[in-house]
Amino acid sequence: MSDEQTSDNRPGAGVVGWPVAHSKSPLIFAHWFAQTGIAGSYSRFAMPPEGFAEAFRALPKAGLRGVNVTLPHKLAALEAADEASAAARAIGAANTICFAADGRIFADNTDGYGFIENLRAGAPTWSANAGPALVLGAGGAARAVIHALLEAGAPAIRLANRTGDKAEALAEHFGPCVEVVDWTARATATGGAATIVNATSLGMTGNPALELSLDDAPATALVCDIVYTPLETPLLTAARARGLTTVDGLGMLLHQARPGFQAWFGADPAVTPALRRAVLGKPGLEGQP
Ligand code: ATR
Repeated sequence: MSDEQTSDNRPGAGVVGWPVAHSKSPLIFAHWFAQTGIAGSYSRFAMPPEGFAEAFRALPKAGLRGVNVTLPHKLAALEAADEASAAARAIGAANTICFAADGRIFADNTDGYGFIENLRAGAPTWSANAGPALVLGAGGAARAVIHALLEAGAPAIRLANRTGDKAEALAEHFGPCVEVVDWTARATATGGAATIVNATSLGMTGNPALELSLDDAPATALVCDIVYTPLETPLLTAARARGLTTVDGLGMLLHQARPGFQAWFGADPAVTPALRRAVLGKPGLEGQP
């Protein structure tokens, strides 16, 4: 074993957030430890925004191999790292951190990877380059989705967001492949779209549904929601009723965790129905663990 170990001698990692009690990552890692037989540990680290950089940079001294980072620290973690991957820089946020033996901190972002892996697993015949994508939303999740779709070969992104200025800022960031569509024209923008993604928080339990007519969408369009509570959002129900292929958002959460497990514990774990059940079936999915 390396010298990067937790005090109980198991190789360790964890998740950093504020709050962090709601994070499903410990359920995912516990399942993979059992599945792979790797005796690792995975802990929650609640870190307030005040003094984050200092607390974060002290984590390698705790003997951890790395951490996942969740809200609200994804940007601060990128800024506090010594090095960052191209994906983390393009997305402007970090969610997967590796600590080198010398204490240097490397920041990566696997949200876009998780998004694409989820589509490939859920819709094996889907291809990003089949046509333009329509992305709804301009927050952190949308940034990861846009980056991933462009990397995967989407020829163009139509981007619609309630607050148009935020969409314009993203279009400027990502370049001419991203075209801003007015929020009120989003239904028309489904015409000819190969991929339609809800990257807003609409449709999440407690929020209004995303209103989006799919009448103009091609019969071949793939419709995907990053919301996974509920698993079948009103958008996905409407898409299925129209006969379109759909992919729910849970797989993005599960697939984005794979690179961290691989980097810290040396095995590429599988995203299986049993893992989905483990994450969905535990009490506390919507709240406390
Ligand atoms: P995340 O980091 O998860 O993407 P976020 O940055 O808060 O979260 O972004 C939430 C997204 O959902 C935004 O695109 C937001 O639109 P605005 O930029 O206009 O706020 C979108 N969203 C949230 N509530 C919405 C609503 N009621 N109608 C339309 N869009 C909404």
